[in-house]
This record gives sequence, structure tokens and C-alpha cells, in this order.
Amino acid sequence: MDYLELYNGIKIPNKAYGTYLIDKSEFGCINCVKTAIKSGIKHIDGAYIYGNQELVGEAIKQCIEEGIIERGNLFITSKVPENQYGYLNTKRIVQNSLKTMNLDYFDMFLLHSPYRTSKEWKRWIEDSWCALEELYEAKVLKSIGVSNFNIKHLEYLLSIAKIKPMINQVEIHPQHQQKELVKFCKNNNIAISCWGALNQGRIFKNETFLKLANKYNKDASQIAIKWSLNKGFIPIVTSSKEERIKNFYKIDDFELTNEDMRLLDNLDGGEFSNWHTENEKPIEMIDPSKLVEYIKSINTTLNSTYICKLFGIFPFLKIKIYGDYKKKFSIFGIPILKIAKKRTN
Ligand SMILES: NC(=O)c1ccc[n+]([C@@H]2O[C@H](COP(=O)([O-])OP(=O)(O)OC[C@H]3O[C@@H](n4cnc5c(N)ncnc54)[C@H](OP(=O)(O)O)[C@@H]3O)[C@@H](O)[C@H]2O)c1
Repeated sequence: MDYLELYNGIKIPNKAYGTYLIDKSEFGCINCVKTAIKSGIKHIDGAYIYGNQELVGEAIKQCIEEGIIERGNLFITSKVPENQYGYLNTKRIVQNSLKTMNLDYFDMFLLHSPYRTSKEWKRWIEDSWCALEELYEAKVLKSIGVSNFNIKHLEYLLSIAKIKPMINQVEIHPQHQQKELVKFCKNNNIAISCWGALNQGRIFKNETFLKLANKYNKDASQIAIKWSLNKGFIPIVTSSKEERIKNFYKIDDFELTNEDMRLLDNLDGGEFSNWHTENEKPIEMIDPSKLVEYIKSINTTLNSTYICKLFGIFPFLKIKIYGDYKKKFSIFGIPILKIAKKRTN
């Protein structure tokens, strides 16, 4: 089965390719997206905040012009960033994204996150959702939904929405399964797409994944994708490497046994990105004297380089780590150093 049906009857291809950070890769954003589409992937996930919509749009245009695919067979998603919420801003972001990507319509547009840092999140969600509803009714957006919403946010949205969200895009993979949220979404006819379906690369170091990859003669990414599809989700995966993109969905020649699905189910509660959650708390405290060593170690494991921005010099450095990509170092709550991940290969 290559599609799921949303409650409004729209068919959504259930094998997606994500475009976050791919413009920073050597292979290049256009090549990445074209490779994905040429490999049969019809669902392209993007966002205004990724800053690469023009390149993603160009890749799509080239694929259509070269006869690789027709627009009607593609499913293109984008998202309103929370710092642009509001009725007029949301409309502006959608129009701007259409123009940048050279599109007449989007197959799906999402609110990127519930704006959990604002006390006025309810007002922001209501205003922005109202704009998405109008664009949906005007057929500029074929479907609308949210991302990173927990049950509290969904309950609020459902209480005020004229048009219910069709999807919730959240971090889900075997190591972070969000079972309560999944149950809530299923009960409310909200489909689930999974970002970080490869746990942002962590699965490639997990013993269970490696064991199963070896058993089935597959890549760990294909094991994760199969798990996600078996659960009825829409996995969104990304890579900036040609061969990896081509391989992701070569999965029709194997099935995970029930026992192996259970092995993966048992990984719940493991390490995950913890982005966009209410508990996006420090996950590690680092001794300042080990800072350089620490940065080098994440460099090696994540195959990335980091840009450091110094805000000031203080004698007692307190370091908070917020996830693999965003790192803030603060003293008495005042940020003094920020590290942002830059993918170089
Ligand atoms: N809604 C949201 O808030 C949100 C948040 C995050 C992501 N997303 C969406 O979801 C998409 C996917 O999520 P994600 O980017 O967080 O992570 P992901 O797909 O779980 O993992 C991507 C990472 O896995 C690595 N990888 C892929 N195949 C590999 C292989 N065969 N061997 C070793 N490493 C491999 C990639 O490195 P290489 O590039 O080096 O292959 C990359 O670092 C994004 O692109 C974006 O569209 C949405």
C-alpha cells in the first residue's frame, strides 16, 4: 500500500523524504530532491524555516519538466514557523512559499509547532489555524495539519477548529513511540507522520537495529521505515547521500516478523532528539574544561562541524545541552554561547 487516506479523502503517499539541512550538503539540495523523486518518492516534506524552499521548488520543477513525474502525483508539504504565527502572517507565509517554490497549491500545510514558549499559544494557534482553514476552503491547500502538538494542544485545537487537523507530524521511531499521543490521534482520525524516523542517525549505533539489519540483509534505515509503515505511520526520512536516498524505500522484498516488531517495540524509552517538546530540558551537563573535547566528540559521531558564537566571557561557565543540533551554554540563565549544527557532508 503506497497511500493512506486522510479523513477528507485526500490520498497521502506514505513514504516521504525530508528536506531539512540538505542544502548544506555537498551533493546539493536539487540533486537530493531529484534523486528522491527519481527513486519513486512522491511525498516531499519541507518547511519555510528550512530556508531551502527555492531549491526544493527548483528540483520539483526540473523533475516535472523532464517528465519524471507529474505535479498531480507529487505530495508537497510545508509549514508555518511559530515565530510567524498570526492570521495575516500565516497567509503571507503560504503565499510566499507558493511563490518561492513556483507552485499553484500545496498538498499540505502545517503549523510547525504549538508555540509552547508563548503564554499566548492558544491565541496564536487559533489565529493561524483560521488562516489555514480559509486557504483550505479556497483550495490553495489540499489538506491542513499540525506538527509537534501534544494531546493538550490537540484538544484545544479540536475545541475551536471549524476544520479538524488531518495530520500531526511528530517525532516517532522505535526509541520514542509516544503511544498515548498516537492513540489520541487515531481516535480523532488524525493521521501521523513521523519526523526523525531514523532517530536522526542514532539507530545506526543501536544494537537491535544492527542485528536486524544484518538478519534481513538490509540497512538499519530500512528496518526503521518498515516498523513505521507497519504501525500505520508515514515515515519521513532524510539523507544527503545519493545511495542512501535511493535505498530508503527498497523494502518490498522483506517483512519483519512479529517477534522482530516486538524487539523494536521494546526499544521505547530510549534516547531521542527531544526537540519541540515541553520537556526540552538540559540532557547533559558538561565540565567547561572538557568543552573542546566534547565538541570534537560530537563532531566525529555526527559527522558534522559546529559554528560557535561567543556572546561574552564569564568566569563560571554553566553548560546546558539541549539536543544534538542546538546547544546553548549559559551562566545564571543568560546565554553566552550558542552552537548550531552545520552539515558539511
Ligand atoms: N516537524 C518538525 O518539527 C521536524 C523536525 C525535524 C525533522 N523534520 C522533518 O523530518 C525529516 C527527517 O528527520 P531528521 O532530518 O530529523 O532525521 P532522520 O531522517 O531521522 O535522520 C537523518 C540522519 O540520518 C543519517 N542517515 C540517513 N541514512 C543513513 C544511513 N544509511 N547510514 C547512516 N546514516 C544515515 C543522515 O545523514 P546523511 O545525510 O549523512 O546520510 C542524517 O544525519 C527532516 O528532513 C524534515 O523534513 C520535521
